[in-house]
Amino acid sequence: MPSGAHKPSPRLCPPAFPRAVGVVGTGSYVPERVLANADLEALVETSDKWIFERTGIRERRIAKDDEFTSHLAAAAARRALESAGIAATEVDLIIVATVTPDTLVPATACRVQSLIGATNANAFDISAACTGFLYAMQVARQFIANRICGTALVIGADKLSSLVDWTDRNTCVLFGDGAGAVVLRPTEHGGGILASFMQSNGNLAEILQVPGGGSAIPITAANADQNLRTLRMNGRETFKHAVTAMVHACFTALDTAGLKPGDIACVIPHQANVRIIEAIADRLDVPLEKFFVNLSRVGNTSAASIGIALDEANRAARIRRGDRLLFVAFGGGLTYAATVLEW
Ligand code: ACO
Repeated sequence: MPSGAHKPSPRLCPPAFPRAVGVVGTGSYVPERVLANADLEALVETSDKWIFERTGIRERRIAKDDEFTSHLAAAAARRALESAGIAATEVDLIIVATVTPDTLVPATACRVQSLIGATNANAFDISAACTGFLYAMQVARQFIANRICGTALVIGADKLSSLVDWTDRNTCVLFGDGAGAVVLRPTEHGGGILASFMQSNGNLAEILQVPGGGSAIPITAANADQNLRTLRMNGRETFKHAVTAMVHACFTALDTAGLKPGDIACVIPHQANVRIIEAIADRLDVPLEKFFVNLSRVGNTSAASIGIALDEANRAARIRRGDRLLFVAFGGGLTYAATVLEW
């Protein structure tokens, strides 16, 4: 249990939903341009050795200037719809989890709706940093479970390269751009999402934030040279809280589902740092081989991370029908969540 966090309330972990909701399609997209650790050696004082040993990252993908978060999201969404065999016009709800919206208004989800032609959907964004995808899945699940809609497209998409301070070696080596998507529908025979746990700790907001560009510190001509619209992170503090919070989220979601770590066939964690993933594997007592890790190729893609990993795992046949999967994420806010799903 993270220090300063609240005790989980039963109200946060509803035991049963009116109808089961499952994933019927997955998709992902990463930009073409590869930024390798060696390329970063030319920007800041760092090395491939340092980055790989401390994070597990070898390279990440960076979007072009004219490739926005909505474009990444729409590409992932089209692939998810294709894999589900569902037309865009059948989608009732689009939720985009992002901290790098194209614009503050309108929501990136509305731009995605237009790009993919989902003319019958309602669309909105969720901001929960790297945990956004799991928050969005849980929100969409409730719409479907409660029969408010039938088909939801949940997309995690971030162009973190637009928030990175490329002179700060503490952060610029960590992040990449991309998008991951799932299509959710009611399941005919139960299964699907078995449990989900979400929590936040706003007392720790300062350890991972973008200070400027919002209503607190708007960017003006007077402060434009202060780099205030870039990501600031206390790496050590973030690391420490990430492990504690993610382990807590996993055990709570597993308890709610009536399962033990040993019942899980594949863990799909937020891809921030391989050492965080190893620490979670250790605390859950689940072998590292059961964790799907693509961090070395894509880096930390923020809200896109779990969606990209899930799509890769699905297409690589790492997961089979009936498998119990555990998703776990952690991000700025602080926010954290875990979801147990029967495939
Ligand atoms: N290359 C070389 N040296 C570096 C680099 C770099 N890229 N970055 C930092 N260093 C140096 C530091 O300056 C420090 O030097 P010093 O001892 O002379 O002061 C030294 O390396 C050690 O720094 P630490 O911060 O202690 O390194 P650590 O082992 O903690 O690794 C890291 C840093 C990788 C950032 C780690 O703390 C981490 O992964 N934290 C979690 C980050 C994370 O998960 N963020 C995403 C959250 S999700 C979201 O919402 C965006």
